[in-house]
Amino acid sequence: MVSSPAKIPKIDEVVIDLTDEKKLVIDRLISGSGKLDVVAVVGMAGLGKTTLVRRVYNDPLVTYHFHIQAWCCVSQAYQKRELLLQILSDIVELTDDVLEMSDEELKLKLYRCLRRNRYLIVMDDIWSIEALYDFKRSFPNDDNGSRILITSRHFHVAAEDEVDGTPHSLRRLSDDESRKLLQKKLFDTKECPNELMEVGEQIAASCKGLPLAVIAIAGLLGRTDMILDRWKEVLESICSQTTDDPEMRCMEILDICYRYLPNYLKPCFLYTAVILEDKDIPVKKLAWLWRAEGFLTDTGAESIEDIAEGYLRDLIGRSLVLPSKRRSHGGIKTCRVHDMLRTLCIPESLKKKTFCSSKMGMTNFFILLTRI
Ligand SMILES: Nc1ncnc2c1ncn2[C@@H]1O[C@H](COP(=O)(O)OP(=O)(O)OP(=O)(O)O)[C@@H](O)[C@H]1O
Ligand SMILES: [Mg+2]
Repeated sequence: MVSSPAKIPKIDEVVIDLTDEKKLVIDRLISGSGKLDVVAVVGMAGLGKTTLVRRVYNDPLVTYHFHIQAWCCVSQAYQKRELLLQILSDIVELTDDVLEMSDEELKLKLYRCLRRNRYLIVMDDIWSIEALYDFKRSFPNDDNGSRILITSRHFHVAAEDEVDGTPHSLRRLSDDESRKLLQKKLFDTKECPNELMEVGEQIAASCKGLPLAVIAIAGLLGRTDMILDRWKEVLESICSQTTDDPEMRCMEILDICYRYLPNYLKPCFLYTAVILEDKDIPVKKLAWLWRAEGFLTDTGAESIEDIAEGYLRDLIGRSLVLPSKRRSHGGIKTCRVHDMLRTLCIPESLKKKTFCSSKMGMTNFFILLTRI
């Protein structure tokens, strides 16, 4: 029997433990029929599907139940081979022999690894059911309780015949959970100062239960001088927007967070967001790219690497860039940008012609896009 550790990096993020939701998904995975079931978790962008499923994936009940676990992030424009390798990398070592295999050989290898084992494969962020078709033949059905767990923003994907049972619709955070998340992000275990309490609650409620909006606004509030007037200003910017739709509201909040960035950070952030889609980028590479673009202001007092690190820390502190893997000694190895922020940044960067004016220029920039 092959055993695989849960390899998804555990980044020490502040999380509201949605125990009820977690339990429902775990039940769907470990109980029920022996046949290979496809279980779906659905909900709008930024709702916390990946976060919930990551917690499910790492839960001892799940790691104990399945012999093999593997995770892949599908996203909109996925490459079949890349996904196969992502899945296989959680199960076997990707030696040169494996990397040289054809796609068909890789599929067969995956089938053989999974056969007769009780396995769980997470396919995160599926945009169309074709992604599942592409792999179905590699997922053996040995009637032993194996599961495919998919997440999707799209209800029609989760409602396809290939998906078993009713898709699990992830709920939004309650106002109280949003408030707790804001509190934890800003003050950790300390109390929120009394005078900020009421406006803090209003800001939390204005996020309409989307955790992505809550952590982004926490990142912004944490960079203010923490006085009532400043918080009221932020609340007013949010409330001046007219939409009631949670996803649109989240987009507007992200937009506000971007606009509040200091000018020197804006191009760094736009650039980072645009070059990534659900991909991790090594921090060193990012610093090098920022430098090549001329985004780093050399003060002479610090090395360029230190300046880049400072900028990155600021963006991470604002939750606009997310750390994804850590180094063994605790530093950040790779980072990523949430897809929703990327959606916001692409038109903004085109409008601003951020990269046309820079040393690299637009053409080189798009060549780079295809390489990362
Ligand atoms: N329960 C939670 N507690 C605290 N923070 C959360 C929680 N759920 C999500 N978040 C934060 O909100 C952000 C968005 O969450 P996540 O990426 O899981 O959303 P998603 O539903 O997978 O979005 P998408 O559809 O774009 O993939 C993450 O950066 C995460 O840190
Ligand atoms: Mg996700």
